[in-house]
Amino acid sequence: MKPVRIGILGLGTVGSGTVNVLSRNAKEIARRAGREIKVVQASARDLKKERACPTKDIKITQDPFAIVDNPEIEVVIELIGGVDLAKELVLKAIANGKHVVTANKALIAIHGNEIFQAAQNKGVMVAFEAAVAGGIPIIKAIREGLAGNSIEWLAGIINGTGNYILTEMRDAGRDFADVLAEAQKLGYAEADPTFDVEGVDAAHKLTILAAIAFGIPLQFDRAYIEGISKITESDVEYAQAFGYRIKHLGIARRTEQGVELRVHPTLVPERRLIANVDGVMNAVLVKGDAVGPTLYYGAGAGAEPTASAVVADIVDVVRTLTTDPNNRVPHLAFQPDALSDLPILKMEDVKTSYYLRMQVIDKPGVMADVTRILGARKISIEAMLQKESEVSDDSASVIILTHRVIEKNMNAAITEIEALATIQGEVTRIRIEQLNKEWD
Ligand code: HSE
Repeated sequence: MKPVRIGILGLGTVGSGTVNVLSRNAKEIARRAGREIKVVQASARDLKKERACPTKDIKITQDPFAIVDNPEIEVVIELIGGVDLAKELVLKAIANGKHVVTANKALIAIHGNEIFQAAQNKGVMVAFEAAVAGGIPIIKAIREGLAGNSIEWLAGIINGTGNYILTEMRDAGRDFADVLAEAQKLGYAEADPTFDVEGVDAAHKLTILAAIAFGIPLQFDRAYIEGISKITESDVEYAQAFGYRIKHLGIARRTEQGVELRVHPTLVPERRLIANVDGVMNAVLVKGDAVGPTLYYGAGAGAEPTASAVVADIVDVVRTLTTDPNNRVPHLAFQPDALSDLPILKMEDVKTSYYLRMQVIDKPGVMADVTRILGARKISIEAMLQKESEVSDDSASVIILTHRVIEKNMNAAITEIEALATIQGEVTRIRIEQLNKEWD
């Protein structure tokens, strides 16, 4: 059989990694796919740039539209990132009857519904394993491996840069900016690193995971997003004193009222495996009703780990080139006409427990005021710690862990606490999740 001809949009870190993996493992990949896979054309912004992969058999162009319009090419691999141009190219490739493989989480999270509809109309596939958690085959695991389950919740460390920063803060007491600069140098950080630090990248990925876990449309604009930039070294230390680690989690959970879709720093008991996922590594914990909790761990970014997922998608696409388009694995795991309209819950309606840290003036009655406010809102305290300030004699840090409560009650309590004359500055609030089997 003739080789399958593919074109790659973007020969950067992941593009070069993909060419390298395809060429190094060519024989095994052909044995798996049933056909040889040949990269015939690739686009790059700078033709003179030195590449991290061999390019002698690849026609390189500066015009990405030359690839999506090339009648020789059957599968287009989109690795340019960004949203607008990527969307135009992907829709053009689909309109030209080509299958698409993409690592672009922002594109799928924001425009996936439209892209999948276009692909379905044309009978082509859009594969996106590399968009979430790099090399971990989490899309395949949820969409196919767990297809017999009703998925109850998932929680993931799905941004390597953020995890690296939190790990270094805990282990080395390093400065935030310094660690971020290193992650950028290692090629893990997004072009705009605020996407990593402020949780946008994780929310893109969580949106995709929630859609395939619960069979709902992609709804990135409904995700609650909070980053790690306000986490201090003291929070990391206090969390540890209570037996927790702070992880930046993406959480999607099905409740009777709707779906929770939230990204925020979270205190996780240190004995949980996911609390021990350090550095740039990613992990996703998925709870299915039949299987129970399952954990998927691996490299979430980097040239070859991401290429591993891109190439797996290419193999999948090649295997199904001749199959009936109506009998392929659906893009969002559930048949397109069977998606559910479960609402996404507002963050104020989510129930969770909290770590609160506040700076108080150390005088009689202060704690009584704080506990009275919490008690009036039926917020039950689980643990408390007071630590004298190292810089001032008359102030102290108070840390309170609470039981579970609806977020809007906690918001109201925090507003009241912050209004007390004895409270200095804002109350820091970090959510806590036990991540145990029964979610309590
Ligand atoms: N910036 C992302 C991360 C890259 O740090 O995880 C992979 O999506």
